[in-house]
Amino acid sequence: MKNSNIFKDKVIWITGASSGIGEALVYEFAGLGARLVISSNEPAGLERVKNNCGKNAGMVKCVPFDLSDTSEIGEIVAKQVRDYGQIDFLLNIGGISQRARIEETPLWLDRKIFEINYFGTISITKAVLPFMISRKSGYIAATSSITGRFGFPLRSAYSASKQALHGFFETLYLENKTSNIRTSVIIPGRVRTQISMHALDARGIEHGKMDEGQAIGLTPAKAARIIIRGIVKNKREIPVGKKEMTLLYIRRIWPWLFFRIADKIKST
Ligand SMILES: NC(=O)c1ccc[n+]([C@@H]2O[C@H](COP(=O)([O-])OP(=O)(O)OC[C@H]3O[C@@H](n4cnc5c(N)ncnc54)[C@H](OP(=O)(O)O)[C@@H]3O)[C@@H](O)[C@H]2O)c1
Repeated sequence: MKNSNIFKDKVIWITGASSGIGEALVYEFAGLGARLVISSNEPAGLERVKNNCGKNAGMVKCVPFDLSDTSEIGEIVAKQVRDYGQIDFLLNIGGISQRARIEETPLWLDRKIFEINYFGTISITKAVLPFMISRKSGYIAATSSITGRFGFPLRSAYSASKQALHGFFETLYLENKTSNIRTSVIIPGRVRTQISMHALDARGIEHGKMDEGQAIGLTPAKAARIIIRGIVKNKREIPVGKKEMTLLYIRRIWPWLFFRIADKIKST
């Protein structure tokens, strides 16, 4: 990949690395010679991903932690900085979706989804940021969703948690331009991952079904390559998807048309 050698020997921390988009990013970056810190809440899943890196597995370190429990994140980050001396790239990919109507969703579940998608993401970001500011160098990405740009049935807390990330990360960028901290918000549409399988229903139990739209989405490998191109080009927003991405522009330019189309989309 053109320009991709900017990642060689860099320390890249990826959350959500045990599955889907995060996992695919691990394989791409491992192939580009990066030193990788990979996180999720599943130690066994992370070990599997590390082993899949073959001859590059020695460059991969597994650091499992639960995004919904931020109590130890400061120490976890400080340890990686001690071990590596720096974090060059932090890619916040980990997240969880939802499949429940608003009136069925108990408040604890709204909070849980926010804890993982929003507070988990900003917690590791806030812990890494001071180290990047002191070096005047660093890159941080968050992963939103097209439903982080508009509401969508059965995803009230998910959509809201992703919309919140836009506010946080735009502010992060504006506050830190002079510190040479670059940021992006990744905006996936449909990517063929486990996201709908792991989405939480009104009881907080995994939905366990592959959405029809998901099944025809981009492959995670293709999504990872689009994301890496976006990072290389230093894009503020990185859209990742197929024709569903036109909804972003329709929502912005013709909101009335968006609501007509969204009314007709089968929401599962
Ligand atoms: N796929 C899509 O179509 C799509 C569309 C829009 C946005 N996104 C976003 O893209 C990101 C990646 O999702 P994906 O599609 O790759 O889904 P995925 O295959 O389900 O992967 C989600 C990742 O997040 C991790 N995760 C979930 N809950 C966690 C927790 N409490 N603590 C730590 N890690 C946790 C999972 O790890 P463990 O479960 O192993 O801990 C897994 O590695 C998410 O932020 C998602 O919202 C995806």
